[in-house]
Amino acid sequence: MLEGKKIILGISGSIAAYKAAFLVRLLVKAGAEVRVLMTEAATDFISPLTLGTLAKSEVLRSVRSEAGWNNHVELGLWADAYLIAPATANTLARLANGICDNMLAAVYLSARCPVYLAPAMDVDMWSHPATQQNLDRLRAYGNRIIDVAEGELASGLNGPGRLAEPEDIVARLVADFSREQDLEGQRILITAGPTHEVLDPVRYLGNRSTGRMGIALAEAAVRRGAEVQLVLGPSSLPVNTELVQLTRVTSAQEMMDACQAAWPHQDVAIMAAAVADYRPATVTDKKIKKGSGPLQLELERTADIAASLGQQKSAQQRLIGFALETDNELENARGKLARKNFDFIVLNSLRDAGAGFGTGTNLIRIVDHNKVTEFELKDKAAVAEDILDALKRIL
Ligand code: CTP
Repeated sequence: MLEGKKIILGISGSIAAYKAAFLVRLLVKAGAEVRVLMTEAATDFISPLTLGTLAKSEVLRSVRSEAGWNNHVELGLWADAYLIAPATANTLARLANGICDNMLAAVYLSARCPVYLAPAMDVDMWSHPATQQNLDRLRAYGNRIIDVAEGELASGLNGPGRLAEPEDIVARLVADFSREQDLEGQRILITAGPTHEVLDPVRYLGNRSTGRMGIALAEAAVRRGAEVQLVLGPSSLPVNTELVQLTRVTSAQEMMDACQAAWPHQDVAIMAAAVADYRPATVTDKKIKKGSGPLQLELERTADIAASLGQQKSAQQRLIGFALETDNELENARGKLARKNFDFIVLNSLRDAGAGFGTGTNLIRIVDHNKVTEFELKDKAAVAEDILDALKRIL
């Protein structure tokens, strides 16, 4: 399954480092050639001798060794994948900031191959905004995050923070190697984020979309070889613009204009944006002052971008929609599928925990004209892969 693949395993200092022995074993069993790098802290949790024996190669800890200099550049270029598991909060902070004061981090900066980060830490360290921001940044740099599992932690606390199971980590690598570049030559337009509809110089109507799902789709599609144009509403999340052609927009109308200009040149469009259905009928150029009574606002309809791309869709083009629902989920999704001429629609329900806006995860169903496919709750990056797998099947 990983026959002939060269994999570096970087281990940092978490109690979950003991699972690295199983990881090395599984990687070797799958046919990979494995080199192990450890931080000093990791050696407190598991012996380099154990890992070196399993990997059948010398474990490297420092850029300098007794034998001289361990060439981090050469090692970074050698690998087909670099897996950092467990990745501690400290290691994530190091990598997010480009600090390379150990072998693990120096190789990270030199590596040209895909990098996988499998974090492990206590629940409060995991949910701290510093850690989450570091993760967002690392995601934007194109790293693949293998999401933590939930459960009992070494501290005795319960929650997210456990290292993903070694079997699941290896399965992710195997799946990625097998679908590498399978979207080569496809031009994909993706909409993402909210829209803001201006009311006066200081106010707008908006919604709680962050853009995370659409950005995850754009990044996954690029990795799989597609040429991606991302039309993104106001989102504070970082986007790796070296890889994605990014058009930033604010209002539904601007998103419409960008999509209209792009659509004739695309093979696929994925409509992940939460577009406002209404905007203020008049925009005042002075701030609206409060009065003593209620304020009436008149709203008018915005254009439906997905429906208009659906109307113009050629026989070769594929159009994928999203539906975020609170009730009558399947019926509503099927209605949109037909009305907007989608090839399939990705349904998520706000009734499901972990789905929708502002979460790193999503729980989806894919609804097409014949069937409904259910998926488990996953990290949005993994959900993006599932959606692209479904797309690949209809191309
Ligand atoms: N969409 C769009 N342009 C709009 C509204 C929606 O492109 N002006 C796209 C969304 O990106 C999504 C799909 O259409 O892919 C479904 O959006 P939604 O707003 O849920 O559908 P509506 O038909 O507007 O239904 P609702 O009554 O639930 O708002």
